[in-house]
Amino acid sequence: MSNFRQGWWKSNMIKFTVLTLFPEMFAPIQESILKRAQAADLIQIKLVNFRDYAVSKHKNVDDVPYGGGPGMVLKPEPIYAAVRDLPGLQELRQTQSGRKIVLLTPQGRLFNQSLAWELSALDEIVLICGHYEGFDERIRDLADEEVSIGDFVLTGGELGAMVVMDAVSRLIPGVLGESGSCADDSHSQGVLEYPQYTRPPEFEGKPVPEVLVSGHHGNIERWRRKEALRRTFTRRLDLIPALEFLPDDYLLLEELAAEIPEIGAWRGKWEHLRPPKKKRRSLQNPSSREES
Ligand code: ADE
Repeated sequence: MSNFRQGWWKSNMIKFTVLTLFPEMFAPIQESILKRAQAADLIQIKLVNFRDYAVSKHKNVDDVPYGGGPGMVLKPEPIYAAVRDLPGLQELRQTQSGRKIVLLTPQGRLFNQSLAWELSALDEIVLICGHYEGFDERIRDLADEEVSIGDFVLTGGELGAMVVMDAVSRLIPGVLGESGSCADDSHSQGVLEYPQYTRPPEFEGKPVPEVLVSGHHGNIERWRRKEALRRTFTRRLDLIPALEFLPDDYLLLEELAAEIPEIGAWRGKWEHLRPPKKKRRSLQNPSSREES
């Protein structure tokens, strides 16, 4: 099977096309890790000012709402024209596999790490940024997905688009440099990330946990998992119902429940992981079996 799609070398590269009235707002993503990722052709970011597609003499992109009310509403024509002009798009609403049109709106699906992983599998993401009070309802028909970055209202979709691009880009292999460094991220496995330390070994009377300097990888892994679980239970109880524990979590969870009694209230969620009791031959009667 060819690795070339639409002229792209599809190893893991992803192309973002942003439809916005304020391309200059995107300066922050031209820095640091995303700057390097673009230079290395791991991601591409194309900014399209859809004001360029306005047909009126004054290049108007908004108008007063039908029915009255405050504020201005984005007109559909410039955004439709900009989408129709996207290379490779034969018809509107045609979802070319590997490409999604995402509309940023506070009414959309709440953006989270699992949606970031989902989007990172695409070849191209087109992000439409609304602005002003709102947009003409017919603009929604262009979108494969509506995405909100949180239950608050921003002045436009630009910050949301940057959040999505940042979170998705760092999942592309090579973008973070060391492969696998996003596997332990908070939310990547449903739990918050374990605490991290670096040198010095003691800072203002606060030492690094001994286990981390021990060099014993098994103990370090065990400590990290336990602390990730502790963090999640003490900070984000809302994540617990969806959490699927690992078989090895049983003992860690019992230890945590002994340390923090409130955690024990969730025992029903991990009880099924209790290792079976070992059967032992009775010394008095070797033929009978007894539970230990
Ligand atoms: N535009 C305005 N508010 C937004 C939000 N919360 N998420 C995404 N886009 C938005």
